[in-house]
Amino acid sequence: MTPITLRRPDDMHLHLRDGAMLEAVLPESARHFARAIVMPNLVPPVVTAAQAAAYRDRILAALPAGMAFEPLMTLYLTETTDPGDVAAAAASGLVRAVKLYPAGATTNSASGVRDFDRVRGVLERMAAIGLPLCVHGEVTDPVVDIFDREAMFIDRVLDPIRRATPGLRVVMEHITTAEGVAYVQGGGDTLAGTITTHHLILNRNHLLAGGIRPHYYCLPVAKREHHRLALRAAATGGAVRFFLGTDSAPHPDHLKEHACGCAGCFTATNTMAILAHVFEEEGALDRLEGFTSLHGAAFYGLAPNAARITLEKTAIPAAWPARIATGAGPVTVFNPGFPVYWQVSD
Ligand code: DOR
Ligand code: ZN
Repeated sequence: MTPITLRRPDDMHLHLRDGAMLEAVLPESARHFARAIVMPNLVPPVVTAAQAAAYRDRILAALPAGMAFEPLMTLYLTETTDPGDVAAAAASGLVRAVKLYPAGATTNSASGVRDFDRVRGVLERMAAIGLPLCVHGEVTDPVVDIFDREAMFIDRVLDPIRRATPGLRVVMEHITTAEGVAYVQGGGDTLAGTITTHHLILNRNHLLAGGIRPHYYCLPVAKREHHRLALRAAATGGAVRFFLGTDSAPHPDHLKEHACGCAGCFTATNTMAILAHVFEEEGALDRLEGFTSLHGAAFYGLAPNAARITLEKTAIPAAWPARIATGAGPVTVFNPGFPVYWQVSD
């Protein structure tokens, strides 16, 4: 089979962390990806333009010599976020999106939004200037079952916000349900959805049947098989409003293999090979470039990358390190659970 060449991909949802973890995981993304929308859920979170500029500098300082990578920065939305600061950060080109975490929804989301009326001014300003809102779409009401939290968020929070803020550009991130797929499909051109690599592979049985597998635990949690199939159809179907956001989210193994383990799958290392496998299975290799390299850039108003990467079919299964070493402890690389006969060759 002849190798396939794509525009260099962008990861439209990535956790790079900071310090020793940043140093270890950044090359794993930069090896294949030209750019990434970088999540702001550090401790403390990246709330102001000044914090985003400092974080961007730390990312660029951690980039090994000879690697090219452009971090696309985001701000963490709080109830006290200043619309003027957001607008200035967007106008300067520093910030490409604002991230909405409902308070308590996931890792380091305690400073997120509780009362959505209190962020109305920021959202209206963002709609006026065309700055996208990236949304972690899960309700946090403790009485709502964790498997229902995404679908409930659409009805209770996301749709009301979009109706109240006409023109607001929204990325519903890491969608995990058929309801999420349908909402994005019906949302017009101000709405897009990102899909992770691991949610194309996992259903909730992979996580829980036959033993609990902490390295498959992420948020939003993997759902039933019919939801996974809806995600695969959306990702491989060619629609421009679905694109890759890996949500690659490193945690050291001792915090994953724990009585109260952290959420996150670390997929930066092998995402492109796994996606080639998935798209080949779906007879959609010709749509891989759209999903990884064109649709996301278009939604964010960026030109596609000029550089290319090549993927080739291999005779023996690809071998990745089971884990990568970081200064914060080893981080397990996502194991798709089946052999992958693809590799990025350059
Ligand atoms: O699995 C996840 N990990 N989901 C999130 O929303 C956050 C992320 C993280 O930061 O670890
Ligand atoms: Zn994330």
